Amino acid sequence: DGVVRIALLGCGTVGSQVVRLLQEHGEDWAARSGARLELVGIAVRDVSAPRAPWVPRDLLTDDAEGLVDRADVIIELVGGIEPARSLVLRALRSGRSVVTGNKALLARHGPELHAAVEQGDADLYYEAAVAGAIPVVYGLRESLAGDNVLAVVGIVNGTTNYILDEMSTRGLDFADALAQAQELGYAEADPSADVDGHDAAAKAAILASLAFHTRVGIGDVPVTGIRHITAEDIAAAQAGGHVMKLLAVARRTDAGVAVRVHPALVPETHPLAAVRGAFNGVVVEAEAAGRLMFYGQGAGGTPTASAVLSDVVAAAGHAMRGGHAPRESAYAQLPLLGPDAT
Ligand code: NDP
Ligand code: HSE
Repeated sequence: DGVVRIALLGCGTVGSQVVRLLQEHGEDWAARSGARLELVGIAVRDVSAPRAPWVPRDLLTDDAEGLVDRADVIIELVGGIEPARSLVLRALRSGRSVVTGNKALLARHGPELHAAVEQGDADLYYEAAVAGAIPVVYGLRESLAGDNVLAVVGIVNGTTNYILDEMSTRGLDFADALAQAQELGYAEADPSADVDGHDAAAKAAILASLAFHTRVGIGDVPVTGIRHITAEDIAAAQAGGHVMKLLAVARRTDAGVAVRVHPALVPETHPLAAVRGAFNGVVVEAEAAGRLMFYGQGAGGTPTASAVLSDVVAAAGHAMRGGHAPRESAYAQLPLLGPDAT
């Protein structure tokens, strides 16, 4: 009947913007793709909580499982491990494609999710899980599919980049800068995931898995966050012509793959030094392509919703016409090198 039924799980910072973009652009996509995207329900924790004015209250439910069972494509924007994991597995195993922004889930349970994809003959899309609006997942998985990626180095957490930037340019203290990042919708529900580098480590694991066709989990990524960085450290970096950044680094060498997350002094002249506020930047080095840089808004409801919707349109296209998103082959059993290797 040309209708693709969409279930939205989670209607917070990102989910509410997904609802808005679906309402604003749904007809356009229908005209272009031949598929009408019908939002059939929105699962939340508290159906009586205040919502953005455009969120249709009659679609709200606290029965997320029941909602999964009556949709074709599931958007998971709940975050965290449970119940997100069980809901995503339920959807995939029953042949429903899933679009998620949940990097913590992907980096902790990647193999289980990919097995469920195979089992249900479904698709799993996660452009929003790494670097907000920036199409770096697509870039690695599809644009560079014919090349050999050697290294991925980037700023992949908007909250910490915002904090470091505010501390260095406006002299804000750490706690005030973090409070602003939370207010602006950049931070995770538990912001220690940002500050202590675990969010960046999850993204580094996802990027390394894609770049090197292997499976890197968050437990494989040594991580140092920015909690210990002081105003004096930042001033000393500036005096020496550097900018303090939290970097995710993944390299492939003859010996294996080395991935880690740590604060680093980036020379002012390096393109990553110009990544300000909650923007992200990812430099990819590939054998034939040379250096590429992906840059844009790395966090926030609306930019992230853009990435979610690009995946929804792809999933809806496959639901209508058949076919699949590119399958991720994890054929390379590369040894993981320790933290000293990067
Ligand atoms: P929020 O905390 O703003 O929203 C979470 C939503 O999930 C809320 O609507 C909440 O319901 C709902 N929820 C929580 N627990 C349950 C449950 N048990 N059952 C049903 N619904 C539940 O998170 P964000 O929108 O910021 O983030 C969502 C996901 O997107 C996370 O995985 C995050 O890492 C990822 N992400 C976020 C980005 C950002 O900039 N914010 C950027 C990229 C990815 P209620 O409203 O009733 O509390
Ligand atoms: N908390 C994350 C960040 C959201 O600040 O980058 C985007 O993934």
